[in-house]
Amino acid sequence: MAGRDKITVVGAGNVGATTAHIAAQRQLGDIVLLDIVGGLAEGKALDMAEAGPVQLYDVDIFGTTEWEKTAGSDIVIITSGLPRRPGMGRDDLLAKNVQIVKDVSENIARYCPDSIVIVVCNPLDAMVYAAARVTGFAKNRIMGMAGALDAARFSHFIAAELGVSVEDVKAVLMGGHGDDMVPLPRFTSVSGIPLPELLDEDAVARLIERTRKGGIEIVNLLGYSAYYAPAAGVVKMAEAILRDKKSVVSCCAYCQSEYDVGGCFVGVPAVLGAKGVEKIIELDLDDSEKGEFRKSLEHVKELMTKVDKLI
Ligand code: LAC
Repeated sequence: MAGRDKITVVGAGNVGATTAHIAAQRQLGDIVLLDIVGGLAEGKALDMAEAGPVQLYDVDIFGTTEWEKTAGSDIVIITSGLPRRPGMGRDDLLAKNVQIVKDVSENIARYCPDSIVIVVCNPLDAMVYAAARVTGFAKNRIMGMAGALDAARFSHFIAAELGVSVEDVKAVLMGGHGDDMVPLPRFTSVSGIPLPELLDEDAVARLIERTRKGGIEIVNLLGYSAYYAPAAGVVKMAEAILRDKKSVVSCCAYCQSEYDVGGCFVGVPAVLGAKGVEKIIELDLDDSEKGEFRKSLEHVKELMTKVDKLI
């Protein structure tokens, strides 16, 4: 009998710990929580394991500072890195976080050479590129979680505006994880009904704006960045991969000819299954959507150039 899947979550801060907890609740597999701060991952993992008999998740959860313990992981989720504080844009984190992602990626290549990697730290698209460069993994095995979060925010705002169940809202979103992300109302539906049938243009524009600023809205409230919704987004991706669900998820994936991207990691709708990113879905964008996507892509490419100078 095949053993349980093994998931490593790198970084035991808010996003990492919450990711580990949701993954445990969904019994996705055994979980290794790793952090360089002695005691942090061990303490949080032990606390979560002790909740197991109450919450009835039957998986091993283990905290460590040692990369050796991650060996053979099926999925590695990178959450380590500095989070945003009020007044900071995601791009302000690049120089610091690229070094962290570099170090983490070297360890992943060494200890988990067959894993699929999901990056969560910011600036997201650039950090996915850094992880891909350093690990050298096939492009289908490296991706980033942002679209799942941004689409969840957009869906929440739509459901609240319309007074309908969040279950019925399916939002689609493209581009980089920044203020120029591209929510796509024409491809967003409520139980199959296109969003523009249900909300006028002004209302849609207002919800798009709130989605684009969704991250900073939380930073301004808390003084640090969001973690429940980011963690939920990354677990959704991990579950699609580990259970080979072929789920269609907006995520940061490598595109070459798709959307004429020309070799870059950027947010697109993709099919996630056992092989990682199995297919990019190409939507028939209109001129205005294409223009917004190009603008966002150019921004991502600028950040990639900065990464190249730093690693
Ligand atoms: C956000 C951060 C995590 O969007 O980028 O909340």
